[in-house]
Amino acid sequence: MSKLPNTPTSIFSIMSQLANKYGAINLSQGFPNFPVDQRLLSITKDLIGKNVHQYTPMNGVPSLLEKIALLTFKNYNRHVNVASEILVTAGATQGIYTAINSFIKSNDEVIILDPSYDNYEPSVLVAGGKPIRISLNDDYSPNFNRIEDAITKKTKLIILNNPHNPTGKTWKESDFEALEVLLEKHDHVLLLSDEVYEYISFSHPHISINTRPKLRNKSIIASSFGKSLHVTGWKVGYLIAPENLMLEIKKIHQFLVFSISSVSQYAISEYLDFVDFNQISKMYLRKKTLFQNLLKNSQFELLPCEGTYFQVVNYKQISSKGDTDFAKELIVNHGVAAIPISVFYKDLTDKQMLRFCFAKTDETLIAAAEKLNEI
Ligand SMILES: Cc1ncc(COP(=O)(O)O)c(C=O)c1O
Repeated sequence: MSKLPNTPTSIFSIMSQLANKYGAINLSQGFPNFPVDQRLLSITKDLIGKNVHQYTPMNGVPSLLEKIALLTFKNYNRHVNVASEILVTAGATQGIYTAINSFIKSNDEVIILDPSYDNYEPSVLVAGGKPIRISLNDDYSPNFNRIEDAITKKTKLIILNNPHNPTGKTWKESDFEALEVLLEKHDHVLLLSDEVYEYISFSHPHISINTRPKLRNKSIIASSFGKSLHVTGWKVGYLIAPENLMLEIKKIHQFLVFSISSVSQYAISEYLDFVDFNQISKMYLRKKTLFQNLLKNSQFELLPCEGTYFQVVNYKQISSKGDTDFAKELIVNHGVAAIPISVFYKDLTDKQMLRFCFAKTDETLIAAAEKLNEI
């Protein structure tokens, strides 16, 4: 009877609940615990008394759409059509779900690169499609031989996530060049590019599909204001796609949500005039460096983090336990919550690694590191 018989409760809920139960410092779920910008709060307070409480147009509040177009032009030099190529969604999650359900029919295949974020596969399954999960290389770069081997006539979509949750890997110019060659050859395949961490890139400026003329006409790009503006609970994101694809997405979107929270949209629209997106990577780079320095003498081995606000560590020197068991032990015995990496793989590949979120106050990171250094 169930459409998702093998889909467990999300690991993020499980670990956050355990963290609450044992009073552990929660570095598991990916959300900031530092205060929201006062300016955004005061804009929102002022808006509450105004006439902003009814349904917005389906695509989104017009001024917000204009600002998304401007942002896309400023950052990626892409002109998007305000009326036909942008859709404001209830977070990237709903955007991704809606995009998948707009194009995937029974038995269509969707290539997902493991380790992968946990909302892709269930969205494909609900649509009746077949998730084809391919491992990334050992260094988490894309393996184009494996991807090409997996492409069949039934392949409808490839989902990529850059910068990458959970590993913090970012795609390079050469990766995009290889993808362009591949998709030129297999031109029946669409792309869904999850770029929610687009403003958190450390090693080099983020390369967006928005900047790739050969790819963007066959791509749906997902962004998240929750992630970029540190308000994950607001659940505001957006999709960018060419008009022919967006028309299909809107057909589903209008019956799934129609439009999303009006107050959040108006507030973000006003606030965008004051946001310097270059500061976001700088702020998180400082936190990453702080967290890495705090852990440098610990028993954890730190993996490179090129983007996102996640630090992956290997705990082989500490324990031979599987990562889910070790993550639970870490909460119960040591008071710090993390996410085990195996849950991001179809076959639960366990390389004894955990993901810590460093989008936290310095005090939280220092307190967590103190506990981790005692192990
Ligand atoms: C890779 C990835 N995609 C999408 C999302 C969901 O974004 P939103 O909160 O805007 O729905 C997340 C949230 O953690 C994420 O890590």
